[in-house]
Amino acid sequence: MIDTRIAYQLVAGDKGVLAIDESIATCNRRFAALGIAQTVEERRRYRDLLITAPGLGQGISGAILSDETIHQRAADGKTFVQVLGDAGILVGIKVDAGAHDLAGHPGETVTEGLDGLRDRLADYFQIGARFAKWRAVIRIDAGLPTRACIDANAHALARYAALCQEAGLIPIVEPEVLMDGTHGLERCGDVTTQVLRATFDQLILQGVSLERMLLKPNMVVPGSDSKTQESNERVAAATLRCLLEAVPAAVPGIAFLSGGQSVQAASANLNAMHVLARSRESRLPWALTFSFGRALQEPAISIWAGRESQRVPAQQALLQRARCNSAARRAEYTAAMERS
Ligand code: 13P
Repeated sequence: MIDTRIAYQLVAGDKGVLAIDESIATCNRRFAALGIAQTVEERRRYRDLLITAPGLGQGISGAILSDETIHQRAADGKTFVQVLGDAGILVGIKVDAGAHDLAGHPGETVTEGLDGLRDRLADYFQIGARFAKWRAVIRIDAGLPTRACIDANAHALARYAALCQEAGLIPIVEPEVLMDGTHGLERCGDVTTQVLRATFDQLILQGVSLERMLLKPNMVVPGSDSKTQESNERVAAATLRCLLEAVPAAVPGIAFLSGGQSVQAASANLNAMHVLARSRESRLPWALTFSFGRALQEPAISIWAGRESQRVPAQQALLQRARCNSAARRAEYTAAMERS
C-alpha cells in the first residue's frame, strides 16, 4: 500500500529535495569541466561527500539517486540508502531512461523507460526507495513544442506515475520546459500552462491519485538568451499564475527544478513566490518547495573539484545552499545570506 504521508513528508516545513540523480554521462560532463576523473569511484566519492554532509537532514527531506548511486556504499561501508535513512532523509530514485528523439518531430524528444518499469520499481522499493522521478523535456523554439511532443511526454509521465503508485512509491512528475532559447517570460508561461494541463489530463485519465504524487515543474522564466531579463517579483507572479491555473489543489506539493538558473536566482525566485503568497488573501493549495540539482550542488562541486582536502568546505557549501532555500520557503531569504 502506498503511504500518502511520504508525499507530505517530502514537502513538510521548510525542507526540500536534493536531486543528485544525474546520469553517468551528465555527471561525467560536469566532472570533465572541473578536471575530475570520470570514473565510478570518483562519482561515488562525490555523492558520498554530499549525502554525509553533517546535518543535511535539517533542510533536506529526500534525495533522488540514480541506479548507479543507489547501489553504492559510503567510505564507512554503510550503503547510501542506510546513510540517508540515518540522516532522516527519504530515498528517491530516477527511473526514466532519458529523453530520446521523437520520431517525425525534429528537435523534440520523448522520455523513454516504461518497458520493464514494473519490475524495476519493485526492486527499488525492496532496496529502500520510497519515491521516484521521471523527467520529460519540452523545448521552446519556432513552432515548438508540438502537440505531439507534449502529449507523448504527458502520456509517458502518467503511465510512469500509475506504475509507481502500484509499487508503493510516490511519483515525482517532472515535465521540464527548458530555459534554452530567446523567448520571453510570457511564452514560457503559456507553454508551461499548456504542458501542465496536458500532464494532469493524462494523470487523471490513467487513474493516478493526485494526493499521492508531487509535481516538479520549471519556474516561469525568460529564455536564457532572451534580451529581457525579469525581476524576481515578475517571475514569481508569472509562475504562481501558471500553477494556480493548471495544478489541481489535491496535489500535496510542488518542488521546482532549477533548470540552469544561478544559485542566487533560484533562491530569490522561490523566496519571491512565498512573499507574494503571503500577501494574498487566499493561501496556496499546495506546499511550494525546491528539488534542485545544480542550484544546490554547483558551489559544492566547484569547491571540491576532486580534492579530498576540500571535502569539508564542499559540504559546507551544500549546507549553505540548503539553508538559503529553506529560508526562501519561509520568505526570509536575503542577498545578505550569500555572504554569511
Ligand atoms: P536542476 O535543478 O539542475 O535543473 O536538476 C533538477 C533535476 O532533477 C533535473 O531532472
